Order: sequence, then C-alpha cells, then structure tokens
Amino acid sequence: MTTETVSIPPAQKNMEDIVALCKRRGFVYPASEIYGGINGFWDYGPLGTALKNNIRDWWWKCTVECPPLGPDGEPLSIVGLDSSIIQNPKAWVASGHVGGFNDPMVDCTESKKRYRADHLYVLRHKDEGPAGHMYAYIGGDKDSEANAAKKLSKQYKVDLPSPDLHVTSLVQISTDEFHRIVGPDTKKAGTLTEPREFNLMFETYVGATATDDDKAYLRPETAQGIFLNYKNVLDTMRVKVPFGIAQIGKSFRNEVTPRNFIFRSREFEQMEMEWFCAPGEAPQWYEFWKEERMKWWLSLGIDPANLRFRDHDADELAHYSKMCVDVEYMYPFTAPGFGELEGVAHRGCFDLTQHQEHSGQKMEYVDQARNNDRYVPNVIEPASGLTRAVIVMLCEAYTPTPERSGAKEMLKLKPKFAPIKAGIFPLVNKEGMPGIAQELYMDLRQKFTCQYDAKQSIGKRYARMDEAGTPFCFTVDGDTATDQAVTVRDRDTAQQHRLALDQVETFLEQMIGE
Ligand code: GAP
Repeated sequence: MTTETVSIPPAQKNMEDIVALCKRRGFVYPASEIYGGINGFWDYGPLGTALKNNIRDWWWKCTVECPPLGPDGEPLSIVGLDSSIIQNPKAWVASGHVGGFNDPMVDCTESKKRYRADHLYVLRHKDEGPAGHMYAYIGGDKDSEANAAKKLSKQYKVDLPSPDLHVTSLVQISTDEFHRIVGPDTKKAGTLTEPREFNLMFETYVGATATDDDKAYLRPETAQGIFLNYKNVLDTMRVKVPFGIAQIGKSFRNEVTPRNFIFRSREFEQMEMEWFCAPGEAPQWYEFWKEERMKWWLSLGIDPANLRFRDHDADELAHYSKMCVDVEYMYPFTAPGFGELEGVAHRGCFDLTQHQEHSGQKMEYVDQARNNDRYVPNVIEPASGLTRAVIVMLCEAYTPTPERSGAKEMLKLKPKFAPIKAGIFPLVNKEGMPGIAQELYMDLRQKFTCQYDAKQSIGKRYARMDEAGTPFCFTVDGDTATDQAVTVRDRDTAQQHRLALDQVETFLEQMIGE
C-alpha cells in the first residue's frame, strides 16, 4: 500500500477553511473564546496538542537523543535544558532585549488599528503630485516590495509593476509625507501616526510590592536561558566544545500585529539549539546546521517545493547576528511568496561576551584540543517555532477532497505525526463484529493512539477520521470471524486491502516508523 505524495499547491488552499477545520476538529481554539477571545493567544485542543507534541518529540529525538553525525562522521554531543521563563531582568539588559528588542509601530487615529511600520506598503502613482494620495496596504511578514506588488496587483486588479504605479515600503517614506497616506482601514488621508519604537517584551512584577525594582520579563526567546546555563552545563556535563544545548518551551512577545492564525502569536513555543564552537570553525558549522535543518523539515513530509532558504540582507540581521538564513515555507497566506519558519543564525560570541561583561562571570573555554587556547565560543543557532511548525503541518496536510462521498477535506499528515494513528470499526453493530473490533482496539490502544467508532455509517466514520488526519482505519466485517482478517483503508488513496488480524500491529508499527 502506498500513500500519495503529491501535494496541492498552497495557493489553492484557503486559510479560512483550515482555521475552521482546526476549530471543528479540536486542533486549535481561540483563547478565552467564551469571553470574546484575546488577540494573539490560542489554545491547542486535544488533537492539536497531540500533533504539537508529536512534532516536539521528533525534534527532541533528532536533536538531543539521537543527534546527527558531524561532518567527520563522529556523533555530535547535544544536551537538553529546561530553563525558567522568568530570569533576572539583568539578563535581558545584557542580551540587548531591554534596549533593542523593538518593532516600529504606526497607529491609525481613525480606525484605532495598529500596524507594524515595516509591514505597510504604499501604492504610489507616478503623477500623484505633491497633494495626491498614496494608499497603504498590509503586506506579509518580511515581504519584499516586489512580493507586495504581486499581491496588490491581485487584490486591486491592477498590473504591477506598471509604468504608472509602484509600491514602496512605508519605512522608506518621509514622515513629512504621511499626511497624504490613506491607511489600510480607512478612506481618509493623514490618519497614520509616525512610527514609534515598541518593546516586545511582556513585563511582570516578582513579589508582592510591585515596584519598579521588582520588574521582570517573560522571556521573548528560549535561547537566553541556554546562555545563562552554558557554564553550568560545561562544569557538570563533561561536554567539550563543540557541543550543543537544546531547549523547547514557551516564549512571549507582545507582537504589534499578531495575525495569520497561529503564525504570529503573542505566546508561542520555540525549539532552539545553541551550538558552541571554536571561533575559527563557526562558518563550517553554520553551513552544516543550515543543511541539517532543511533535512529535518523534509523529514516531516513537507513537499520540497514549499520550502526554501532565504539569506538575510545585512540590514535585517538581528543585533546579535553575523549571518542568518531563514528556512521559509510557502503558507497559503504568503503564496506564491514564502514566510519564515526557522532562522539559522551565526551569533558569534555576542551573547556569552555580553553575559560575561554584565555578570562578571568568566565565559571563556580552555580548549585542550587546541594547545589550551582560551576563547569565548562562537554560537550557531538553529531557532524554530514549534507552534509555527504546527501551522506548517496543518497547511501542508490540508487537502480538499470534493471527489469523495464523505468528508470534503482531509489532513494528509505523515502517520508519525498524526494525532490518532488508527480507527477501529465494526462494519455493523451485530453478528459478533463489535466484539472482535473491541478486542482489536483493546490490543492496539496499548501501543498506539486509536479510536473505536461504531456510530453512524462506515462512510461517515471514514470521513471523521480523514478530517482528523488518521492515516488508517481497520474494519471488522462479516468475513473476519472466518478469515481472521480485517479491511485496512488508507486515508490518502481511500484504497482498501485485506490484512490478517495478527499483522495489524506490525503493519502500524512499520507505517508509523517510516
Ligand atoms: N533565538 C532566536 C530567535 O528567537 P526569531 O527569529 O525571533 O529568533 C525564532 O525566532 C523562531 O521562533 C521563528 O523562526 C519562528 O518560527 C518562531 N517565532 C518567532 N516569533 C514568533 C511569534 N510571534 N509567533 C510564533 N512563532 C514565532
């Protein structure tokens, strides 16, 4: 039995349909929904939690438990960590987040909406003249002007680039000209304020007095917890440079414009690994991790056509970064463009040196393999979003199935990541079939997440499983009692074949392991 690998182009998938399926089938709910929700926060339902955990566990397995072999064929050494979300606020001063973790924001005095200045694009006419209006639109995450132009052409049915019209990023426009701009959610010109820097860290107070001295921050990245424990790990784990420390956990950013479902939220999860290496070796490790990370994303079953690398231009590098490449995915809301999924950054020795200076603790490493050379290690950091990976998997797996009689859509998740691995059904609720199906279910549930379903027609039961992304269904029918076999139905092809009852477990093991 084969599963189809051809995927539907992201541009043909509708994000609203995906969000609706996620809600209907318990993948993702808006947070505090009964109170009207809260912008930028989401709750993961039973199936979403299972999908997220499956991706998380696979990352942990591939990074910490069974890391790849290095360029010389030797196993790499990577250890795990789970650091506190709230740290001493001095750590965030040292890391540069208190002073520099800002986004430029623009407010609209008319619509009361707030935008990231670098997400606004302005459509200008060559003959607009000094008093003419320019029209501002919201582009995608890290959209280029060319990309924004493509989207605007589609949205406004104008040909772009055209000799008369061109698109400019708002940040390129002098604030003297802002009075001529018509904001994205208004018809009046001059309602956008000048961009202001806005710090993205959530503040809180530790202890009961809540004075300024008690101010602390929710971490905006898991990475700093790793740098803060670099010395502890070095001193307690018998690791030698090069080695890595990996961490998965929640991060918080008070994003100016959270949007696109769980793509950019204010509370999210990251999977980050800091790879500590000798300064001279950093460029090779950067290339190594770049390739390894792409291999990992492909291991999730993502169509290679929907993934690409994008090198950062010098002017978009974060304050700590010497080189950075993003792994990007073609989301339905960016198609035909791409959006960020993971960043692989060469952080140099920025973080350890900062923490050394601010804490007074030595971060140097004495390299016995290099004549006792002393240096502050350089760091290569593959940093990805776990919740970003969830949206990628949902978008990639989402497949409309208008030709099917049951569900009109399904999730073609790779079996390893599917929340439910198998459905077990009696064809009808009589002639001993429920008994055999129950027995099979009781057996399988000890090893796999399975569901027993005897309600409604077999077609409806298949449809329910297709929507949840369950790869296989096993049906006990009138022949099972005599031939000791069940019908296996494949989600992707809807094809069925007969399988001996005592082979079901091995079959599932094999299909999930692939
Ligand atoms: N330690 C480096 C760092 O945090 P980043 O590019 O800001 O780098 C890494 O974040 C990854 O975390 C991103 O590639 C993305 O997958 C995820 N991420 C960042 N901000 C996010 C947000 N607001 N919502 C969801 N995921 C986010």
